[in-house]
Amino acid sequence: MQSTTAAGDRPLRRVLGIETSCDETGVAIYEIAARAGDGETVAGPAGGRGLLAHALHSQIPIHAAHGGVVPELASRDHVRRLLPLVRRVLAAADLPPGAIGGVAYTAGPGLIGALLTGAALARSLAWAWRVPAIGVHHMEAHLLAPLLEPDPPAFPFLALLVSGGHTLLVEVAGLGRYRTLGQSLDDAVGEAFDKTAKLLGLPYPGGPALARLAEEGDPARFRFPRPMTDRPGLDFSFSGLKTHVLQTLSELPRDRATRADVARAFEDAAVDTLVIKCRRALRATGLKPLVVAGGVGANRALRAALAALARAEGATVHYPRPEFCTDNGAMVALAGALRLAAGEQEGLAIETRARWPLDTLRPPAGAADRAPRGARS
Ligand code: KG4
Ligand code: ZN
Repeated sequence: MQSTTAAGDRPLRRVLGIETSCDETGVAIYEIAARAGDGETVAGPAGGRGLLAHALHSQIPIHAAHGGVVPELASRDHVRRLLPLVRRVLAAADLPPGAIGGVAYTAGPGLIGALLTGAALARSLAWAWRVPAIGVHHMEAHLLAPLLEPDPPAFPFLALLVSGGHTLLVEVAGLGRYRTLGQSLDDAVGEAFDKTAKLLGLPYPGGPALARLAEEGDPARFRFPRPMTDRPGLDFSFSGLKTHVLQTLSELPRDRATRADVARAFEDAAVDTLVIKCRRALRATGLKPLVVAGGVGANRALRAALAALARAEGATVHYPRPEFCTDNGAMVALAGALRLAAGEQEGLAIETRARWPLDTLRPPAGAADRAPRGARS
């Protein structure tokens, strides 16, 4: 279903986006011109009004008591929150359900039970409203999130995806045109923040708590290794850093100053490692825009270090606003809207995938070449 009140003379489509891959329930509505193509300006007068409304419910208090995400509790809470959030964004955008022209949902990667709650609701709404539904790759949604901002980067760009589940350097030639240049061989950087935070006795979620403690730390007291920076290549490894933290702590009293110094040494090492690999990737590809997405993109030390890198390399760094760095419905609505606007459609099967390599994605499929995306492993 498309509205014909238009931007230029192009019909508009409003897409409801649903994110339930982990511990945040996110819902949003994104408006796009129905035939906005790859690389076109996605929001603004000719492309639709962009993000119309978004709402988020965080499960942090539920999981904090357990020190980490409990998958079954996550699924149950998504089920409780989803419909009220859908009603809330429709009301905030002042739209009736009949104004929605498509439903996008995170199809993976993520917790399979949590993914299924969003997928089942998205498919049901699309069926009831007689509009197409589309499953979105969670990391594609993260790396497109800077396009929600007023001054979006143009394709091609380099993307650093840093979340609790992934650490990836990706060359992005266009929508669905991704080449993975490097990735973590063990823990994701967000996971390393979280595990180190746990060792330091900090509450879940550990990343932001560790970053706050690190601000009090003395940068000169400890120096931790920068893993895999002494050899060529763009892959990462963060599990050794955590072991280093454990060893350091085992030899010292755990007073607040020591814990802060360790937090600082860990953060400096993690940030430095990411920056060294970004510098290599910018030089190797010759790309100038660097997009940073995923929860760790909210880290202030990383932002400052990447700003300095960009100045030195003549590059530009693009972030989503902090609330769209972590999981949210707006990025899912945007990714789904771009694919639907480019003509992609899916059948009625509900497919969710706990694991799903980003570079198996393809550009939006027209009727003729839908096979590659359908041929899922
Ligand atoms: O993208 P995201 O919300 O969820 C995943 O898809 O994983 O990322 C969450 C991750 C967690 O590991 C969290 O500790 C980390 O991002 N994180 C941070 C900060 N804020 C969130 N890590 C370091 N510093 C922060 N300020
Ligand atoms: Zn995420």
